[in-house]
Amino acid sequence: MRINRVLPKPLSRFVRWVYRCLCQRIERPDVYNSRRPERVGVVYTAPSDMRIEDRLFLYALVRGIKPQRALETGVLRGGSSLIIANAMEDNGTGRLVGIDPGALVQVPSRLFFGRFELLAEPSPQAIPRAVELLGGPLDFALIDDIHIYSQVYAELKAVLPFMAAEGYILLHDAFNYGVHAAIEAFLAEADTVRDCGILSVSPQLQHDPWAAYGWMRLLRMLPPAGYVLRKVHEFYLAAQMPVPPSDPDIWDHDAWYCRSVKACPRCRRTAQ
Ligand SMILES: C[S@@+](CC[C@H](N)C(=O)[O-])C[C@H]1O[C@@H](n2cnc3c(N)ncnc32)[C@H](O)[C@@H]1O
Repeated sequence: MRINRVLPKPLSRFVRWVYRCLCQRIERPDVYNSRRPERVGVVYTAPSDMRIEDRLFLYALVRGIKPQRALETGVLRGGSSLIIANAMEDNGTGRLVGIDPGALVQVPSRLFFGRFELLAEPSPQAIPRAVELLGGPLDFALIDDIHIYSQVYAELKAVLPFMAAEGYILLHDAFNYGVHAAIEAFLAEADTVRDCGILSVSPQLQHDPWAAYGWMRLLRMLPPAGYVLRKVHEFYLAAQMPVPPSDPDIWDHDAWYCRSVKACPRCRRTAQ
């Protein structure tokens, strides 16, 4: 039965509006409900010393790059592991191994969705074992255990041979002088790694007079030539759609611009 046949027009419009609002409310994600996506609320509840900016960045990065195999050094109470595992669950893919000989994880295991495993051994020695557990090269590594030059430098060197060709390495507490110096020394030697810079600028200055914490710095493996276009093709093929040619003819094509402002050469030709 159509409501505008039984109700006066203004009333039927009002009923439709209420219905639309209710639908929007029901469909809106409940970000604190671990049984439903999107679970971004985990960044506010996870037991981590990371600042909210850093947690949001970590969650968004994992949502964005969708790692299949991830490693974390320094688990402590499982806060950053929880954020990564929940982002993976939202992605519908990914497994994480955390290395920490002194972790005190009290988070109920169901909240990791079977995506997280703890290796209670020290890094960097345990990195090969973690990679073995994951069954392949690392798409993502988070380094956040001991914030001293020698440890961070040794970990970067140890993790490098296990990184996937398009992998990312994220370092927490890159504001720290020792961490910074280790990253710089590593970058000076590793010509297969590119610096993506500091992507969360939120220093924690009060802990210690000599050492400050906070900041997220991202490194990534130098992508092979032609990698972006190969990715574009992969996605079209996976969607079983024809791959558009990437010739200069369509470099000036934009659906809105061609329709509303100026048609590109390809659009002009097809309109004739
Ligand atoms: C800063 S906390 C990790 C915080 C965690 N990433 C978070 O945000 O929830 C540092 C952790 O590093 C661990 N740790 C110390 N030495 C380590 C080592 N050699 N390898 C791995 N973890 C280590 C400590 O046990 C501690 O739990």
